[in-house]
Amino acid sequence: MRAQVGIVGAGPAGLLLAHLLHAAKVSVVVLEQRSREYVEGRVRAGVLERTTVELMNRLGIGERVAREGLVHGGTTLCLDGEPIHLDFADLTSGGAVTVYGQSEVMKDLGQAADERGIPIIYEATDVALHDLHSSRPWLTWWRHGTPQRLDCDFIAGCDGFHGVSRGYIPADALQTFERVYPFGWLGILADVPPCNPELVYANHAHGFALASMRSPTRSRCYLQCAADDRVEEWSDDRFWDEFSVRIGSSFTSTLTRGPSFEKSIAPLRSFVCTTMRWGRLFLAGDAAHIVPPTGAKGLNLAAADVIVLGDALAAFYNSNDTSGIEDYSRRALDRVWKAERFSWWLTNLTHRFPDMDGFDRQMQIAEFAYLRRSRAAQVSFAENYVGLPLGS
Ligand code: FAD
Ligand code: DHB
Repeated sequence: MRAQVGIVGAGPAGLLLAHLLHAAKVSVVVLEQRSREYVEGRVRAGVLERTTVELMNRLGIGERVAREGLVHGGTTLCLDGEPIHLDFADLTSGGAVTVYGQSEVMKDLGQAADERGIPIIYEATDVALHDLHSSRPWLTWWRHGTPQRLDCDFIAGCDGFHGVSRGYIPADALQTFERVYPFGWLGILADVPPCNPELVYANHAHGFALASMRSPTRSRCYLQCAADDRVEEWSDDRFWDEFSVRIGSSFTSTLTRGPSFEKSIAPLRSFVCTTMRWGRLFLAGDAAHIVPPTGAKGLNLAAADVIVLGDALAAFYNSNDTSGIEDYSRRALDRVWKAERFSWWLTNLTHRFPDMDGFDRQMQIAEFAYLRRSRAAQVSFAENYVGLPLGS
């Protein structure tokens, strides 16, 4: 097989890039180790920045998100039950985010790929990358017991944090930066109406809680939990009891409990790999960086990477311009570090750390007090939350 660009991983980064390149008449093949059902069923992020929605529109897959996505013009932060409402529309001249599940984004991308004939090879195992520093890199994998090969000009490693691509960059050519947080997020989905029309991020003595949603009748709720907690230890009753305490009295009267149909625990980590390019290999999305979920930047950052990468590769093929390719890592990392900073800051502000001392706690209280009174602090929060403009 031959394609101009081989893409490893059919998550948001891989499929958004495939669509961008296909629209620019660059041929692609996408290799994914999991099944399509698994990729489209995986419950993860839920908040899209405007640039992500604009990318979906640009790719002609924005129809359902426009119809079913919930546009949120604000959010609430709570410290010990005392809410601060932040009005994005006012603070950022009309800014907003759209609540729309990552699994829905994946279904939209998958269906459009079928319609456009973009080849995605699911259940491709033992993917290996070869000759990344030559002008003709290639990929091998196995599918249902048969070895396969793809020759290409470039390879995009969009295979997430646990993927193989990053490991092909020699240790002396990259640097990694990491922070592992001493807690996880326990998340549930339940078919009950959300307790508030907008998201609520709560810092409570028992730990962090987040009230989110997927629709007016479906809640997505999270609790900070111990890093080694197991989902079996959290019955629905235990979850809702704890959630109603942490989310605060302003929202308990509107809280509806109900059986969960999804429950999982995610670890929290900040991670950045510099460089995002080595020879003819480009990393994009979680393959290159992880943010803790607080602030919902992971999926949006993956989309921002592929806008830069897709445009760089299109310029190379369509006008022989190599500058975008050469500048990809620098440009992408510029935005990555800003999203890393915001996600780290919001995690520190809203969570209770096991080793927090009195000083750390006073810093949280002072930060909330500042946010409550200072328009400058609110503008800073809002412009980061709705998403910094591309290229800034
Ligand atoms: P991924 O979505 O990880 O996609 C990578 C793809 O590559 C996967 O389909 C994987 O199967 C495939 N792959 C991996 N290895 C190989 C291989 N060797 N060969 C072939 N294919 C391979 N972000 C938020 O903003 N809010 C959230 O609430 C949130 N919750 C999350 C919960 C969990 C459990 C996780 C893991 C992430 C969460 N994120 C969240 C982060 C967000 O989902 C990611 O940032 C986003 O999925 C990144 O997209 P990606 O395409 O870069 O990587
Ligand atoms: C969701 C996840 C987040 O990390 C966040 O900050 C907001 C919402 C969600 O899954 O709905």
